Amino acid sequence: MTDIIILSGSPSKHSRSKLAANYAGKLAEEKGFTVKEISVTDFAPEDLVYARFNSPAIVAAGQAVSNAKGLIIASPVYKAAYSGVLKSLLDLLPQDAFKNTTVLPIMTGGSPAHLLAIDYTLKPLIANLKGESLQGVYLCDHHINKENPEHPVSDKETGVRIQTQTNQLVEAIRRNHAASVVK
Ligand SMILES: Cc1cc2nc3c(=O)[nH]c(=O)nc-3n(C[C@H](O)[C@H](O)[C@H](O)COP(=O)(O)O)c2cc1C
Repeated sequence: MTDIIILSGSPSKHSRSKLAANYAGKLAEEKGFTVKEISVTDFAPEDLVYARFNSPAIVAAGQAVSNAKGLIIASPVYKAAYSGVLKSLLDLLPQDAFKNTTVLPIMTGGSPAHLLAIDYTLKPLIANLKGESLQGVYLCDHHINKENPEHPVSDKETGVRIQTQTNQLVEAIRRNHAASVVK
């Protein structure tokens, strides 16, 4: 079982939101957690377009997400909201797929104009799946250096925010684990 699943919601091959999420994942790995990325691009487009709930790949993704101790969800801003293809994937996951799970939302946009897309679009979706959202991180395109995938966040302040939010994610996982052991 993987500790943290990254759900990457960009259809783009060279995705900035994916880079930012994988950076957070790398920070979590450095703290001893196992991390696996599931991207919308891993699925046959037909599974998503025809809503194939029973596709083996979709069922496996649902199980991995439901079993995860923490989630990182990354999306580009498309038309002031999360990407449509991320929604297509989440629509196919079990109703309570994020139950008892802390979720770090990450969004990237062309400008700061839609930074509230995290609060107005992504967090309500996470809440619908019964996840518990952290504050999250919004990055503008100019904060990300695609040429440096190991350290893609070129803006110092934004890098610190990703570190802080990742620390909160791993602390929440540890707290939840400690609480479940006491029970
Ligand atoms: C179809 C489309 C719609 C977009 N809409 C917005 C938008 O409404 N607001 C914004 O700030 N950026 C918008 N952008 C820019 C992307 O959000 C931005 O470049 C983002 O970092 C891309 O992430 P990705 O590389 O992970 O796909 C849009 C880009 C595309 C391709």
